[in-house]
Amino acid sequence: MQIDEFSKKQGEILKFAYSDSENLICDGAVRSGKTVVMTLAFALWAMSKFDRTNFAICGKTVSNAERNILRPFEQIEGLPFTLKYKVSTRMLTIKCGKKQNYFYFFGGKDESSYALIQGITLAGVLFDEVALMPQSFVDQAIARTLSFKNAKIWFNCNPEGPNHWFYKDWLTNPKKPKTHIHFLMRDNPILGDEEINRAETLYTGVFYERYILGRWVAAEGIVFPEFAGNPEKYMISADKLPKKFNWVKAGYDLGGNKSAYALSAFAQGADGKIYGIRSKKIQAVDLRPQDVDNKAKEFITGVEKDFNVYVEKCFIDDSYYTIINSLNDWRYMFNNAACIKNNMPLADRPLLLSKLMASGKFFLVKGECDDLADELSNAVFDKKSDKAIILDDGSMQIDTLDSMWYALADDWLYLNRAVMI
Ligand SMILES: Nc1ncnc2c1ncn2[C@@H]1O[C@H](COP(=O)(O)OP(=O)(O)OP(=O)(O)O)[C@@H](O)[C@H]1O
Ligand SMILES: [Mg+2]
Repeated sequence: MQIDEFSKKQGEILKFAYSDSENLICDGAVRSGKTVVMTLAFALWAMSKFDRTNFAICGKTVSNAERNILRPFEQIEGLPFTLKYKVSTRMLTIKCGKKQNYFYFFGGKDESSYALIQGITLAGVLFDEVALMPQSFVDQAIARTLSFKNAKIWFNCNPEGPNHWFYKDWLTNPKKPKTHIHFLMRDNPILGDEEINRAETLYTGVFYERYILGRWVAAEGIVFPEFAGNPEKYMISADKLPKKFNWVKAGYDLGGNKSAYALSAFAQGADGKIYGIRSKKIQAVDLRPQDVDNKAKEFITGVEKDFNVYVEKCFIDDSYYTIINSLNDWRYMFNNAACIKNNMPLADRPLLLSKLMASGKFFLVKGECDDLADELSNAVFDKKSDKAIILDDGSMQIDTLDSMWYALADDWLYLNRAVMI
């Protein structure tokens, strides 16, 4: 990667390195050029002021830090350093002339990072995407710098809700002095109008405010306002479906006292778009144990016959082992959704789906997905959570939505790439 110029805001990051200020917070829009220049300034500062000293570079997880910080940093052309990363110790040694310093990689969400960071003294810490880390981890890492007189703490993140611990404890806390730089996409010198416009159309509602305008706003009210306001826009008649699909998969959410059973079948067309081809909700009171797999079979064979497709897998909610264990695994198609659930954290679901919708990659077959369309229109954010997650307190049914997440989870990483900017 070639860095030929810095934007004014990026220049302020470099100035911080040589100022007396001890704490830097860069927050704001996605892709606005925070991480890459912060990493560079952090390394330049460390190498000019210290020798044989320890520093920490923290991401949401160690792999995130390696991917978001280390890889891009290694690719910057013309760095005045030599870099050597040892995977086993997760330590980057940076050398410049006779000087060398050690940069340990930690993950705020990795259990092992807690123990490791406790035993180390640090002259500086860079927290990339700090809003995705637990406060306890961040506090511990900062505590490791207290014995260094000229230590500096570097934070960057995208905004979350205004009740988020980082917003309250750092960003708006007058007792914590800091240099605060707010970034928008225009502050990234390599983004042109076209890229910025594309990004702007991908984000809607609360996500637009947070990730484009860079504001710390609460996720409240309807989750998919564009869908709720005009569901017809996302409907397609069965005869307009692509002739070929890359895959067809189903999801099955098992019900309980308050919740219903729900099935959804989704397909990815050869055009890369995602189609909900059928969904169905069945109230638990209407079912006997032996009906649980029969209903799924009926649903799947129905989808196969009516749409002339082959359903590869049906991912089942993992909360009810006794039911899953007693399923007659016909065609070996019932997969425990537990194995793929980690792909799709609750907090990522609304954002990904709203991006798919906004980019014209999400459709439901008209007349086949009424329960799902209802739930998509009515889903609201859990305003008690500081994450943008869907309310799930039993006050409204979200079972068909859950069956949709299970149907999509297997391809979650691919779907994320499809709407990346
Ligand atoms: N001055 C620059 N010169 C060249 N490339 C740059 C410059 N600033 C940013 N970039 C590139 O722009 C892209 C986005 O930058 P970066 O990852 O730093 O943004 P970010 O604000 O951290 O985004 P996010 O909030 O999504 O993590 C990266 O590919 C980065 O290398
Ligand atoms: Mg970043």
